Amino acid sequence: MKNRQNLKDKKGPLAGKTAIVTGASSGIGRSTALALAKDGAAVLVCARRSDRLTKLVAEILAKGGKALAVTADASNVEDIDRLLNQALLWKDGRRKYDIVVVNAGRGLAGGLLNSDAKQWQELYDLNILGAAHLMRRAGQYMVERKSGHIVAIGSVVGRNISPFGSVYGATKFAVASLAEGLRREVCGHGVRVSLVMPGIVLSEFQAVAGYTEENFGKNIAQFGTLLEPQAIAEGIRWLVAQPPHVNVSEIMIRPTGQSYP
Ligand SMILES: NC(=O)c1ccc[n+]([C@@H]2O[C@H](COP(=O)([O-])OP(=O)(O)OC[C@H]3O[C@@H](n4cnc5c(N)ncnc54)[C@H](OP(=O)(O)O)[C@@H]3O)[C@@H](O)[C@H]2O)c1
Repeated sequence: MKNRQNLKDKKGPLAGKTAIVTGASSGIGRSTALALAKDGAAVLVCARRSDRLTKLVAEILAKGGKALAVTADASNVEDIDRLLNQALLWKDGRRKYDIVVVNAGRGLAGGLLNSDAKQWQELYDLNILGAAHLMRRAGQYMVERKSGHIVAIGSVVGRNISPFGSVYGATKFAVASLAEGLRREVCGHGVRVSLVMPGIVLSEFQAVAGYTEENFGKNIAQFGTLLEPQAIAEGIRWLVAQPPHVNVSEIMIRPTGQSYP
């Protein structure tokens, strides 16, 4: 009750804004949704696991924030359209959206020789095509409104080539290219695009990607303390709170001890 009153009393820097966060049922997306809601944004959270989203929405509402869950597959174009339409129908979000965090994604252990080729299609459909469709639809809407901010989650392996995850890395090189290309297309219309490139963050990512002690743990042992998802969420929270004429177009956040990638 006290918490709820606190959030209502304190107007955060994102008060009046609506944010969409994909991949919000876990890790970086979940932390980002909580951070943006804490700063006053009404948050639309999306993922496939609806039970997780329901819990997250309840957590945000209990703190006096505004949130809505949309169960959707971020690699499916119809689902992406439904998600964005839902944002425009949502009264609490005042029938608009201002910030889209393109975060849903997955990894894949291994390089070209030894990664599981049966998973390549799913990886590309989600990390590249799903991200591209969401960025395109949101970009078209924001250009029309002459404002908005798209935050794409890339990776350090989308800037530096890693032989241990080159197929996944290729998808994040594509995300980096899409984000910077989009930034150049829309910047003249008052729309911001930022690329966030995390280093190693402990989340469900490692299990989904198929990382083990043998193919991952041993290689990163010398990096020391790894990141929690909150470290990335804090970076996103900071960059979306900048004034409209300031676009932080790229940010890389690594554990201090991570030398490469
Ligand atoms: N963790 C790292 O070290 C790291 C480093 C660099 C970049 N990244 C990037 O950061 C992003 C978030 O990763 P994370 O570390 O937070 O991983 P995570 O804990 O596994 O979270 C991934 C999120 O994406 C959602 N998702 C997966 N497939 C989806 C689909 N088809 N449709 C909708 N949602 C889907 C998952 O929810 P559901 O399963 O419920 O759908 C989950 O909420 C990804 O783009 C990842 O590539 C992570």
